[in-house]
Amino acid sequence: KRVGVLISGSGTNLQALIDATTDPSQNIGAEIVLVISNKDNVEGIRRAERVGIRTRVISHKTYPTREEYDKKLDEELRSADVDIICLAGFMRILSAAFTTKWKGKLINVHPALLPSFKGMHAQRQAIEARVKISGCSVHFVEADVDAGAIIVQEAVPVDVNDTEESLTEKIKLAEHKAFPRALHLVATDKVKLGDDNKLIWSF
Ligand code: GRF
Repeated sequence: KRVGVLISGSGTNLQALIDATTDPSQNIGAEIVLVISNKDNVEGIRRAERVGIRTRVISHKTYPTREEYDKKLDEELRSADVDIICLAGFMRILSAAFTTKWKGKLINVHPALLPSFKGMHAQRQAIEARVKISGCSVHFVEADVDAGAIIVQEAVPVDVNDTEESLTEKIKLAEHKAFPRALHLVATDKVKLGDDNKLIWSF
């Protein structure tokens, strides 16, 4: 399957996806063919360039509405013949028109065990709630933010002296394992999204 990855920043999750998909022994069943960032001069773009993946910087600032920006994203992804989109730290909410079009083909990684701690600063929310376990979730994207069927989760213990920063780093390590695993499941059709927005597993 041909994969497009949307990013906004450092791209450590992108790197994990690059490493997994280019390692033949892992048989992920997916190839990253396009990386799009809404921000220029970010490390994620350089990570893609280093391994010869096509990149595009498309700034949302040059589009008057979210819908028009998303339409441009959609055009770029379609012209690259993308089958699956991974949101890897893409800090933009996608319009319902976009998520509906890509339903079942659009996955996101979130730094918490959903449905807990949706939205921004999930790690800070976890610290403030004094939970003992947090983690990450890879899920199909629906129009509602951080909703959508969960494909893979990975737990991370929260220590009493963890800070937002230290927890963020620990969760990232979990994300780097969970995201490639989820992509593999979707790319090889082991999991699909049903019309009722629930997962259909086939092994
Ligand atoms: C990740 O923690 C992801 O869960 C969140 O944004 C972060 C992206 O990090 N949505 P990176 O750019 O992959 O390093």
